[in-house]
Amino acid sequence: MSLDFLYLSEPDMLKAGVLDMKRCVQSMDDMFRTMGEGDYLMGSPSENHHGMMLWFPIEERVGKMPVAGPDRRFMAMPAYLGGRFYICGNKWYGSNVKNSEKGLPRSVLTVMLNDVDTGAPVALMSANLLSSMRTGAVPGVATKYLQKSDASTVAIIGAGVVSRSCLLGISETIKIKGTAKVYDLFYEKAEKFCRDMQSQTSLKLVPVKTMEEAIVGSDVVSVAASGLQPVDIPDEWIKPGAIYLATGTANFSNEAYSKYNVVFDNWKMHKDWLDELRDEPERLLSVNAGHPSARLLLKVSSGEADGSKMISLGDIIANPELGRKTDDDVFLFLTGGMGTEDVAWGYDVYSEAVRLGIGQKLSLWDKPHWA
Ligand SMILES: NC(=O)c1ccc[n+]([C@@H]2O[C@H](COP(=O)([O-])OP(=O)(O)OC[C@H]3O[C@@H](n4cnc5c(N)ncnc54)[C@H](O)[C@@H]3O)[C@@H](O)[C@H]2O)c1
Repeated sequence: MSLDFLYLSEPDMLKAGVLDMKRCVQSMDDMFRTMGEGDYLMGSPSENHHGMMLWFPIEERVGKMPVAGPDRRFMAMPAYLGGRFYICGNKWYGSNVKNSEKGLPRSVLTVMLNDVDTGAPVALMSANLLSSMRTGAVPGVATKYLQKSDASTVAIIGAGVVSRSCLLGISETIKIKGTAKVYDLFYEKAEKFCRDMQSQTSLKLVPVKTMEEAIVGSDVVSVAASGLQPVDIPDEWIKPGAIYLATGTANFSNEAYSKYNVVFDNWKMHKDWLDELRDEPERLLSVNAGHPSARLLLKVSSGEADGSKMISLGDIIANPELGRKTDDDVFLFLTGGMGTEDVAWGYDVYSEAVRLGIGQKLSLWDKPHWA
């Protein structure tokens, strides 16, 4: 039997609506609900592995084998997602900060979707925009389910590319469109962020000079800073009822971790990380330096924090009683990114491409040679 699949370049993805944040937030919402119902698989026997990574050696070893460098890795993130999606897929990417010297983004990503029953490829797509959008849509979904009733003020910490999509995700779901205060270590970056993004959000963007100014009084705090300097959030800045959305690393006190509700994109995935790297705390911290849960995982590992209290956003969506009870509840939401997100948004953009007749059909074979 002949096999074809659809190839979607970045221009094709744009035509098929990959930048449509409203749809992307809905896609992530449906994905979290499906995960909350347990209808998903990620890699490894734990069924919750973030991804399989190539770890380059710290020192030169042989031939042209690369050595470890900042943000240098290859990663495969396979997933099965059931519900309305019913699709398998894998995000595969390489990342190297030196790419900018060659005029390339830090990471270059593709997603392959496969038929659940046969394993046959369904689509291969450019995934840089797909991945950025799903990353920003996730704090958007968290805002939808966790915000207090009169939330209106947002803080954006780190004025980089990830914060751009986080702002778009939060803008979709925050009920009252007030002000978003934007802070970056470099004030000019915060100013540029506000200039570039103002036309894309109904929140009023204001650059601020200190992190305290951004966070104090904010109902929704989104952190996606790159780790040049740690983002430490002292207890006295925390407003009753606020939600803290850590897409990049944010550090809270031990008291905050035990006093407030800690919600993960998928606690089982973070637990899996801990189990894998429990005996290598330095690796856990260094490899996941930009990783929101690394410090909390170490606290769980040493018994300073209680792992049994951690829940996942999908649990709250499937069972709202686990969510906010009063307007004073504080939530810390930690997200590490999942292959299920890429598969979900990839599937929805692919479906739209099929509907609109976008993309290039590629043939795997007319008839398998050795069948
Ligand atoms: N959870 C996920 O799914 C996911 C996906 C992609 C990226 N990330 C994480 O998001 C973070 C941001 O990535 P990016 O690509 O936007 O990086 P980026 O380099 O484009 O931007 C980061 C910005 O943060 C600023 N910054 C650094 N330290 C700061 C601090 N202490 N306070 C305020 N600003 C600070 C930098 O000046 C920079 O402008 C990274 O940690 C990355 O690992 C998470």
